[in-house]
Amino acid sequence: MSIRLKNAPIPYLDLPAQIRLLRPELDAAIGRVLDNCSFCLGPEVTRFEKDFARYSKAEHCIGFNNGTSALHIALRLLNVGPGDEVITTPFTFVATSWAIAYVGARPVFVDIEDQTFNIDPALIEQAITPRTRAILPVHLYGHPVHLDPLLEISRKFNLPLVEDAAQAHGATYRGRSVGTFGRMSCYSFYPGKNLGACGEGGALLTNDSALAERARSLRDHGSSTRYYHDEIGYNYRMEGIQGAVLGVKLGYLDSWTQGRRRVARKYEQLLSETPLKLPREADYAQSARHLYVVRHPKRNQLKALLEEREIGCGLHYPVPLHLQKAFQYLGYSSGDFPVAERAARECLSLPIYPELTDDAIQAVTGVIKEFFGVAEPAANLHS
Ligand SMILES: Cc1ncc(COP(=O)(O)O)c(C=O)c1O
Repeated sequence: MSIRLKNAPIPYLDLPAQIRLLRPELDAAIGRVLDNCSFCLGPEVTRFEKDFARYSKAEHCIGFNNGTSALHIALRLLNVGPGDEVITTPFTFVATSWAIAYVGARPVFVDIEDQTFNIDPALIEQAITPRTRAILPVHLYGHPVHLDPLLEISRKFNLPLVEDAAQAHGATYRGRSVGTFGRMSCYSFYPGKNLGACGEGGALLTNDSALAERARSLRDHGSSTRYYHDEIGYNYRMEGIQGAVLGVKLGYLDSWTQGRRRVARKYEQLLSETPLKLPREADYAQSARHLYVVRHPKRNQLKALLEEREIGCGLHYPVPLHLQKAFQYLGYSSGDFPVAERAARECLSLPIYPELTDDAIQAVTGVIKEFFGVAEPAANLHS
């Protein structure tokens, strides 16, 4: 592990460090695509689809140009449309709800659990109406949603579950990979994700062969035979170069997840005496630790101090979806989802990535302790 130079900035995410390490392998993989000129889908995408399906223990993986497209197609595959409702969380990246809006349906928000930031299964039944067509939970920050009660509701009301696993590559629920519990699941390979492309990428997983076949057609202009179009489709194909890059990176995913979990453990240890509310794992979960989000009412002041010391941090997410201008037409107002609204006010994302050194973690936690006036044991002082 390298030694951090005194007072060197600590970025929120250090993608250059990852790319430097993988550069020869990435060059070779991208070179193969340049050689065969399979830029749209092609053998590298097919190979990655097979590898990611095997990794997740799913029957089928269909590569997409991004995660938003995969979510859109998942709802198209369920024939969700105008007049329908889809139950989801108000505390997520906006794309979860874009997919519902794209098919003309209405997002119906349900508040979240205070500890996990995920949709609260205990509140779902009361949101179900005769128009409900699906439930779309998110494994936010890489922490699995509580799937047992969700699956029970899904069975009881015959409502398919679509997992938004965009942030949860490598996460497990009771030892089994997330993304394999619902009718379908959707992943994002946006560059900053735990498994990220060198550009945009996404995938849809399912064990249903008929859905998989239709998903392949819908992502490629609604066509399974060239120039014959069975239904209105989209140009949502994964690029060959992204398939090649993701194939290389998938081989590192488990060790990267372990690295992220090491960082989380270290934060937990070093921040235990501060008044911050820390993101603890539920007993059913092995989080992918995509983001490490702490909570405190004074998070704006803490964020300002961290930034002053050149420590990168983020807000995920400052405005819950029911209060976004784009979703004003749904008619929600402030106070409708108090747990999500408080999370939005208090959340602060600290740097977390496998390359983050113990020394850098100590520097981050040192500033936080200084903020709260928590004495640092002399031996832990960072130099
Ligand atoms: C929870 C969630 N859902 C969906 C998406 C959409 O993925 P993409 O950015 O690849 O379209 C993202 C990624 O940003 C996400 O974090």
